[in-house]
Parts: sequence; structure tokens; C-alpha cells
Amino acid sequence: MTGEAAPVPATPAPAAPVAVRKIGGKPIVVTGDRPTGLLHVGHWVGSLENRVKMQETYHCLFLVADVHLLTTHAEDTSRIREFTRGMVLDWLATGLDPSRAWFYVQSGVPEIFELTLILSMLCTVPRALRVPTLKEKVEEGALGENYSVGLLNYPILMASDILLFHATMVPVGEDQASHLEVTRELARRFNHVYGPHFVEPRIVVGRAPRLMGTDGVRKMSKSLDNHLALAHSPQEFRRRVAGMFTDPKKQRKNDPGRPEVCNVFSYHGTFGTGAAGTGAAGTEEIARDCRSGQLGCVDCKKRLADTFDRVLAPIRERRASYEKDPGAVDAILREGTAKVRDLARGNLAEILDRMGMGSAP
Ligand code: TRP
Repeated sequence: MTGEAAPVPATPAPAAPVAVRKIGGKPIVVTGDRPTGLLHVGHWVGSLENRVKMQETYHCLFLVADVHLLTTHAEDTSRIREFTRGMVLDWLATGLDPSRAWFYVQSGVPEIFELTLILSMLCTVPRALRVPTLKEKVEEGALGENYSVGLLNYPILMASDILLFHATMVPVGEDQASHLEVTRELARRFNHVYGPHFVEPRIVVGRAPRLMGTDGVRKMSKSLDNHLALAHSPQEFRRRVAGMFTDPKKQRKNDPGRPEVCNVFSYHGTFGTGAAGTGAAGTEEIARDCRSGQLGCVDCKKRLADTFDRVLAPIRERRASYEKDPGAVDAILREGTAKVRDLARGNLAEILDRMGMGSAP
């Protein structure tokens, strides 16, 4: 040593761009839901609608995130299969198409858990503790400090779901944004440590990313019972829509209302417009007649229920036809999971090899 300072290392060259992976010539989408029960119209406009569209240009992998359910409900697995079937019926009903996309069960693809353990080595505990949904889940369940390591791992498990298959796009609700951030960071960190391997996936949120529930106060959620489930009967829809909160200052039919503060009015905008709806002209007329007192809340809600009947008709029809064949959902999941697992094996071997591990190829 001559006593000179060590040369400052050159700024590393930008990592070589990672090629986008494809299946059947299409870039890859990974997304899914926890099987907590039936999906509702918030899921539909928040993400399902996007997924249906994306099937045309992407190869979609649709995941039943049953292991994610264990992060908060490990003691009760008794209804997971039942909820899975119901949820997949909802997927099929909204137009997710197993002839183009692969539907699979997370617990049937153990390579996901192997990658989770590996990625967990690249995520510090303080980073995992900073994910806002952790605090929400702990508060929701009044867990205090007694939450599981698995719950802390939630975003890392989700990162594995996505990165194992080299997805470039992830259509989900806005509530998942912080998990996607962790996913992107882990991709970057892996690439930095072991060499370029993952593309950073992007979140795709729907046109109504945070639909309010029928109470007009909180986000639509089954656990708050302020939801409109895709599988609710038309009668149940009417009942729930009739119970929706409106402008509290509009007490009687002829009172002038304020559509800008009314949850029902915002639903007219969300569900009454677009391909199946009345178009913006319809909502302008509703706003005008509400303000003038010509349109009462009862009639306004009837119109909304009619809109739902119209836009949900194809969804209800498709659900009914799949329900007739009780083995269909299981067969779809069995086939999809087998295909996904084949892909997972090869991809995991590549990841380990990139790290200089695993049995050499
Ligand atoms: N965490 C997501 C949710 O609760 C579900 C999920 C699990 C997911 N793994 C995923 C979504 C991978 C997209 C990609 O909604």
C-alpha cells in the first residue's frame, strides 16, 4: 500500500435493460384476490374490468391468494375452498377467460414460497414495518404486537407472486399500491446484488379505484357490510341500493339536493356511464333534476338499481351458466395451476442460478 486513498469506484454503468418475458408472444400480467368471500362492484370497477381488457394484449395469470389469507386467518381454513369457488365464479362472470388466461391456486405453487424466503433476505425489518397496510391490518384485527411473522411477510409474498412470473403489469385496487412499491424495490435490489434479472412491474388501477360503500362513508368492503356483491340477487341489489345514504339535507322529494355531495349521484357517474351505460348526458340530467327538486331520492335510487340490472345482466347470465356445472371451477383451477407450476419450476431454477445457487444447470 502506498498510503494513497483507494480509488473511488466508478459509478456503476446503468444495469443492462432486462428483456420483457412473454408467453405466447404476450407480456405477462399477474394479479389476483384473497378468497375472503364474494367480490363486489368495487372490485369490478377497481380492477376486474381492467383485467378483462388486459387479457387481449397480455398473458394473464390470475391467482387465488389463499396463502395471503393465512396472514390474518391461519386458524380458520374451513371455508377457503368454498370461498375460492365463489370468487372464481365471480371472475368468470365478469369475463375473465380461462381459455386465454391461467387461473391458479397460490398454495399449489410452492415455488412461490421458496422465492418468498429468498426475497425476504433482501428486505430489512424496518422496511417491512413501514408498509402502511400492516398497521391497518393490525388495527383492524386489534392484534397489538401479536401479529405473525407471516403478516409482516405479506408484501414479500406478493412480490414473489409477481416477480416469479416476470409480470410487467399488475391490475389491482389502489389499496395495493404500497405492496407494489415493495415489489419494485425488491426487483431493483435483486438486480443490483445478483445482476439484471427482473423487470420492475407497474400497477394498473381501475377507473374508480376507491369506490365508497353504500354507507357513503367508508370504502366498499364485505366486512363492513356496505357492499354490493356481484352475486347478490337483483332483489338484494334493489334493497341495498334503496338503503344508500344520500345528501342529508335533501329530506323530502322536492327539497333541492346537492349531487356533488351525494354518494348515489357518484354511483350514477361510475356505473351509468361507459359502454353499457347512459353516458354523461344521463348524469347531467340527474344532477339538474336533483338540484331543482324535481327528482326525489327514491326515484333516483330506482334509476340506479335499473342501471345495475342493465350493466350486470351479462355478468349474472355468465355466472348462472357456470354454476350449472359444479365441477367446472375445480377443473379450471387444476389445469391452470399445473401450467403455472411448470413455469414456476423453470423460473425459480433460473433465479437460483443467477444467484450462483441451486443444482448447477
Ligand atoms: N394482496 C392482494 C389483495 O388483497 C391479493 C394478491 C396477492 C395479489 N398476491 C397478488 C394481487 C399478486 C396482485 C398480484 O388484493
